[in-house]
Amino acid sequence: MILIVMTAIFVSIFGCKKNHREEIAIHPRTQSLYQEIHRPQFHFTPESNWMNDPNGLYYHKGKYHLFYQYFPDSIVWGPMHWGHAESNDLLHWKHLPIALFPDSLGYIFSGGAIVDKNNTSKLGTNDNPPIIATFTHHNIAGEKAKTNDFQKQSIAYSLDGGYEWIKYAGNPVIPNTQKIKDFRDPKVVWHEPSQKWILVLAAYDRVKFYASANLIDWEFLSDFGIEGDKRLWECPDLFPMNVVGTNEHKWVLIVSIQKNAPNDGTATSYFIGEFDGTVFKSEVENQEWLDWGTDNYAFITWNNVPKDDGRILGIGWMSNWQYAQIVPTENWRSAMTLPRELTLVKSKSKYSLHSLPIREFQALRGASIALNQLEIIGEKVLEGSFSASQVELDITVNLKKTTANSFGIKLQNELGENILIKFDKREGKMFVDRTNSSTHKFSEDFFKNIHSAPIGFEKEKMNIRLIIDAASVEIFINNGELSFTSIFFPSEEFNTISLLANDGTCNIINAEIHPLKSIWNKKGEEN
Ligand code: FRU
Repeated sequence: MILIVMTAIFVSIFGCKKNHREEIAIHPRTQSLYQEIHRPQFHFTPESNWMNDPNGLYYHKGKYHLFYQYFPDSIVWGPMHWGHAESNDLLHWKHLPIALFPDSLGYIFSGGAIVDKNNTSKLGTNDNPPIIATFTHHNIAGEKAKTNDFQKQSIAYSLDGGYEWIKYAGNPVIPNTQKIKDFRDPKVVWHEPSQKWILVLAAYDRVKFYASANLIDWEFLSDFGIEGDKRLWECPDLFPMNVVGTNEHKWVLIVSIQKNAPNDGTATSYFIGEFDGTVFKSEVENQEWLDWGTDNYAFITWNNVPKDDGRILGIGWMSNWQYAQIVPTENWRSAMTLPRELTLVKSKSKYSLHSLPIREFQALRGASIALNQLEIIGEKVLEGSFSASQVELDITVNLKKTTANSFGIKLQNELGENILIKFDKREGKMFVDRTNSSTHKFSEDFFKNIHSAPIGFEKEKMNIRLIIDAASVEIFINNGELSFTSIFFPSEEFNTISLLANDGTCNIINAEIHPLKSIWNKKGEEN
């Protein structure tokens, strides 16, 4: 009890992020673990309590490591730790003890981690190179005193592959000499041509690049921002990529935007350009969106993915700061997106990032149902033995033969709660309408708007892939050309999926329904 009260006091004084306030309570487990309503069945969630951004992603000795912003004492944001999990296949996760705890320098905010293979930091040995985590120390006393230099960059190292962490005695390694209030989320990449580590961090409305030979002594290189754009940037990531099917090489800069994303609130964006070891030059004037939905934030990529694999793999936080802290889950809050593979595609001299769920995900498919040649008029309910809240749909529409002005997919339950995904040819857009996804209106922002993304209808075919879990839908159009992630919290699970066509017919070449297995067994352990 004392602990609960202390936690409540601590959180209410220090820990209320972005003015979301809520009574702190330790919630009783109403249903058995991993069987709770809204508990994702194949997305990563912490067993209990609060999670936000993915942090410190790296691959090492057969394991993908996932760290995350974690507050172990409550289901709202509070003093940040790094939670930790690992996986062999990016699907099944083993929860591990907390990796980094707040200390006298502050809370442990977001950042990255790399394998220092050549022991450049000398924090390990050549035989046992260290893993180095880069993170922000956020000092609460400094924040309260409005010192403006309360965010500084620090490192920690692990000599056993990432299980035990030692904070570097000389922290911070990048002080905040310019006193920039928002100065955080350092992520590191190796820059082969200059044989240096490059660190990118968010500094209010821009990113800053630094270089180091040893991950400890950092030299400032340059800034990158958009002229006149004053939005807050967070969680940057920088990495080189090959253009699919060519030897052409580009640099990708990912930046999460904390306000006024296309569908309001937070979202992840990217720039494509050149990085010469000092300066990043974007080849596009404004950023593009990695995901048009409301619920893919702070997306970053795994470091050290084996060369013979060669994929760019990443994951995002499947929520939005507008309502993350008040969504109706009781034991835990927030899930990650599915791990995704990014590819860089060039079409008519325009570069874009495509994203798809990792191919390993197909291992969760059960006995599939294939439907060929459907003419949808009005509404057709999809029948078969699958759960509408744990399924993947892969639908190919013949746009030339489709006469309907709009067509789509609807998930619903007997209470009339629903989410509608609509493709509107006249508007040249897709819409995701979750305004009626629950009668429990837990947040104004969550239910306020119908969300949309621009989409072309000129091609002969359109492929729509939906991955539906207990509280989310991830939509991938035309092999990842566009992705759109939305979360929802119906009072009872959605149990019906129907296909819709308005003012005409929708011609479907084929639709595959793949029931999806849970990654948890009935005892709440990994399957
Ligand atoms: C992004 C973010 C980061 C920060 C972390 C704190 O969601 O605001 O910029 O490091 O969350 O939890």
